[in-house]
Amino acid sequence: MSRFLDSMVEQARSDRKTIVLPEGNDTRTLEAAEQILKDKVANLIILGDANQIAASPYDLQGAQIIDPATYPERAELADALYQARKHKGVTPEQANQMLDDVLYFGVMLVKTGHADGMVSGACHATGDVLRPALQILKTKPNAKLVSSVFIMVVPNCELGEHGMFIFSDCAVVVQPSADELASIAINSAESWKALIGTEPKVALLSHSTYGSAKNDDANKVVEAVKKAKELAPDLALDGEFQLDSAIVPSVAKRKAPTSTVAGKANVLVFPDLDAGNIGYKLVQRLAKAEAYGPITQGINAPVNDLSRGCSAQDIYGVIAITCVQAQNNG
Ligand code: ACO
Repeated sequence: MSRFLDSMVEQARSDRKTIVLPEGNDTRTLEAAEQILKDKVANLIILGDANQIAASPYDLQGAQIIDPATYPERAELADALYQARKHKGVTPEQANQMLDDVLYFGVMLVKTGHADGMVSGACHATGDVLRPALQILKTKPNAKLVSSVFIMVVPNCELGEHGMFIFSDCAVVVQPSADELASIAINSAESWKALIGTEPKVALLSHSTYGSAKNDDANKVVEAVKKAKELAPDLALDGEFQLDSAIVPSVAKRKAPTSTVAGKANVLVFPDLDAGNIGYKLVQRLAKAEAYGPITQGINAPVNDLSRGCSAQDIYGVIAITCVQAQNNG
């Protein structure tokens, strides 16, 4: 396991949280669950048919298995779901039907305090995993919106925090406004503190450094920097920066000599989803970096998505990260 995941597992074990795994029909999920229980990383609730899960080759005796169809407290969950969505026209009957979807059922276990977080997506698309969380758990009071980060660990690299960075947002918000970008930057700094623990140094990225280009796209980032500084004056945050100004000390010296963040940034905030998504994949593929994410931020309780191509080991890592987020209140 990597140094980042080692630290997540160690932290998760120090104050065990309860994570719901809705995809009890997925063998990779069950394999990961067995190891999580064995290593005492988290308490688990697994959704699915108890007989089928018991017939799997994995030892899951320490997990609570819930079959949504026969759950004795289903009526209470349905009522809580109805209360949360009735303003959107959801009827009590529809709320009960929605619980047939394990993703809604899992989110309702989090909403009602039975679980601290949820990990899913081995067999579901990103939007399907996130939508119930966005609709029901909602955005944290100090976040304008839900977004996501990737933890990037670049081998043989001294830039950032010895090769470690947060990249955001690479997975959720397609075209953030300046206000939204400011919120993503501040929430990404909080994610850095929660997951890495050292001081975040946040750079808002652009194709322009300190006014070298003037156009609507660069101006959006300038505006976002201004708003973020107003909202979080104590945060080491600056921009707009080209990537090299943000992370390479010698370039920062020439292009942004007065900045305390330029050349030292460890949290890189991309101007939109195209840039972020392409950026993280470039670093992952060309620099052979480890990429952990997308890790959501800004939800009232942590809900994280898996890639459909994930391995049991990947699921194990995301569960540990979700536990650490739950310890830090999402
Ligand atoms: N923050 C907070 N709330 C949100 C957000 C957000 N970013 N986005 C949507 N919501 C809320 C809405 O306000 C709405 O709430 P309401 O029903 O109470 O009014 C609810 O969520 C549903 O909103 P929709 O707009 O219907 O949500 P939709 O499902 O269309 O979009 C989604 C949400 C799926 C996250 C969308 O933003 C999306 O598709 N993002 C891109 C995902 C993607 O393709 N990423 C790249 C691949 S991932 C990878 O490469 C790792």
